[in-house]
Amino acid sequence: MDNRPIGMFDSGVGGLTVFKEVKKQLPNENIVYLGDTKRFPYGSKSKESIIELTKQGIEFLIGQNVKLIVIACGTATSQALEEVKKIYSIPIIGIINSTVEYLEHKYRDKEPQIGVIATKGTIRSNGWQNKIELLMPKAKIKTMGCPLLAPMAEEGWTDNKIAELTVKEYLKNIKNVDALILGCTHYPLVEEHIKQVLGNVKFFNGAPNLAKHLKDVLVEG
Ligand code: DGL
Repeated sequence: MDNRPIGMFDSGVGGLTVFKEVKKQLPNENIVYLGDTKRFPYGSKSKESIIELTKQGIEFLIGQNVKLIVIACGTATSQALEEVKKIYSIPIIGIINSTVEYLEHKYRDKEPQIGVIATKGTIRSNGWQNKIELLMPKAKIKTMGCPLLAPMAEEGWTDNKIAELTVKEYLKNIKNVDALILGCTHYPLVEEHIKQVLGNVKFFNGAPNLAKHLKDVLVEG
């Protein structure tokens, strides 16, 4: 067993939703968490900037002697994961693949309407959409960039009227979906408001499936 910690990285507090889930499923693992709040938000930055910031985050974590890196950020996963995997030999895992694989399993042989909400950069990159189309060609996808949600969550505004109304406004165009992917790791922090608007729609955030995947990787490894 490799006793070195897992490295985890996000632009801010959003990745802590992943941290919590990994700790729950892998209680004996130590985690070094980097929240790059100085350069927050990532969601509105160019792909080139996201790649550069992700490289810096990874190099910082490699310097902490971690055994594996989790990119606990939808924006960095969708725009930088493939690039950084080509550069570094350390295993690097993002939040998209394991979540879409789980969805595919859940909706196999069905034609679900899937909503994806995420930062503007993530939506622009089609990161979730490409993976869904690849694994679930029959799915219909609706996407919505929600640029104000992560900054609000970062500010601690998750439980007030402003958060409630902002979520409501963004979700106006995401009605009638069977499943909703919370494509940014900050969004589970406003999940209660999302539930209020969409009722019994099923929610998927990256954290539980990533943690399960991580468990498989670490046990196999
Ligand atoms: N938590 C992030 C994500 O999953 C990024 C939010 C931001 O920095 O804009 O996309």
